[in-house]
Amino acid sequence: MDNTTTPDYFRDVTDLHGIEADSWRLLQAAVHDRSCGWRLPALATCSNREVRQRTVVLRKVDDQPRRIFVHTNIRSPKLKSINNNPNVSWLFYDAVRQVQLQLTGLATVHTDDDIAEQIWQDETELSLRGYLAPYVPGTVQSAPESNLPDDVGQRIPQREELSKARANFAVISSAVDTADWLLLRPDGNLRARFTYEAGAVSTVDWLAP
Ligand SMILES: Cc1cc2nc3c(=O)[nH]c(=O)nc-3n(C[C@H](O)[C@H](O)[C@H](O)COP(=O)(O)O)c2cc1C
Repeated sequence: MDNTTTPDYFRDVTDLHGIEADSWRLLQAAVHDRSCGWRLPALATCSNREVRQRTVVLRKVDDQPRRIFVHTNIRSPKLKSINNNPNVSWLFYDAVRQVQLQLTGLATVHTDDDIAEQIWQDETELSLRGYLAPYVPGTVQSAPESNLPDDVGQRIPQREELSKARANFAVISSAVDTADWLLLRPDGNLRARFTYEAGAVSTVDWLAP
């Protein structure tokens, strides 16, 4: 979409419930739309007074109850941080639609349950190749290191070759407690806040941008 076409989301900017519903519609679309900025949120964690953010790929979005999912290496430092403190924050920005969404909520790590298994099964071989990583992510290396075994560096592995990668695979899911929506507009920005209880909308408010 460019700025000259009719907006496909957030058409009625007076309708708070419509904006909330559209935010979840756009999150769901972003999972499958590589051009959508909301596909690559920043996930922020904080533990032992260390605040970290990193870009991740949004892999799945449930709207009943509201929950979002990404996957990661089971040995990555962010999982230690989440295990210490499951409070997380997510930052999404769609530069085409000029809309930001900040979510906060509690994260859960899935390794052996149905959620992890389903997302593993649904992923492409290319997305899962990184889980063949021989080294713990973030460990010091003596030379440039792709953290891929030599025999898959230049190709996409077959499904059977990925079975040993499954042990490195984890899913982070996040419930959502608050959503802060901000739309940039030439005639004045608009901002709204939504709160959730048990995965459903509990309050909707306009905020001063
Ligand atoms: C565009 C992009 C997408 C990424 N997607 C993921 C992802 O889905 N999962 C993931 O764990 N790391 C992803 N990364 C790498 C993370 O940003 C980060 O470097 C890595 O997970 C290590 O983070 P940690 O040390 O905080 O655990 C992505 C990086 C970029 C640039």
